[in-house]
Amino acid sequence: MAQLLLDVRDLHAGYGRAEVLHGLSLQAEAGSVVTVIGPNGAGKSTLLNALMGVLPARGEIRYRGEHIARRPLEDRVLQGIALVPEIRALFASMSVQDNLQLGAYRLVREGRRDIAALLERVYALFPRLEERRAQLAGTLSGGERQMLAIGRALMGEPLLLMLDEPSLGLAPLVVRDIFRTIASLRASGVTILLVEQNARAALEVADRAYVLEMGEFALQGAAADLAGDPRVVATYLGSARPAASPG
Ligand SMILES: Nc1ncnc2c1ncn2[C@@H]1O[C@H](COP(=O)(O)OP(=O)(O)OP(=O)(O)O)[C@@H](O)[C@H]1O
Ligand SMILES: [Mg+2]
Repeated sequence: MAQLLLDVRDLHAGYGRAEVLHGLSLQAEAGSVVTVIGPNGAGKSTLLNALMGVLPARGEIRYRGEHIARRPLEDRVLQGIALVPEIRALFASMSVQDNLQLGAYRLVREGRRDIAALLERVYALFPRLEERRAQLAGTLSGGERQMLAIGRALMGEPLLLMLDEPSLGLAPLVVRDIFRTIASLRASGVTILLVEQNARAALEVADRAYVLEMGEFALQGAAADLAGDPRVVATYLGSARPAASPG
């Protein structure tokens, strides 16, 4: 078995006294794509926020072999964990390029000098952003914004990239681009934890999948197996239109 980058055991999290996650265990091998699918309100965003350290949680989070459940958010960022949240927190009054450069803040602080090369890599992944490098982020389309949000996270060279519903509200062609990007990031060795309601596309790009229902994993397994599981087909793939396939 490949090395585990992320090993979560018995994770509980919630808001005040309302527990939302009831003891989740999840593993991600280094260099793999793991997806968590599930209906609205299942706790998908809560899970990512707990892993990022935005939200307090109880249980064990092991990352690169180290226990990080009690480490603050800043520490987790420094260790290479990045979250692209559902609500895209971009600096609307800054240009595309300035937003991207801000994403490399941690590396700059560490004295890295190859930021320009990083920027070129992000532009190679998203040529659209390069065309619009001087445009204000606030004037980008929804799809371009999502690309910028992912690009900015990549500027920090994360080892673990967590994406919260990157396809939400985007047109099918843009969704296809985003999933293609996820596939090529995987090929470059980034480990990805992908939360999605677009179960079909998520299961196509992922190696492993978890179905989250009411704060518990109802099903889990190889993504290809889950894509053929009658319960998944009936609940999550049934009436969906044919995939925005990454290929
Ligand atoms: N800040 C908050 N305070 C109180 N309850 C919250 C808060 N954020 C989320 N919840 C509740 O926690 C539960 C899980 O929410 P969460 O956002 O994690 O779901 P989700 O699976 O991401 O849903 P969606 O697919 O709609 O994004 C929901 O019942 C939600 O109402
Ligand atoms: Mg959510």
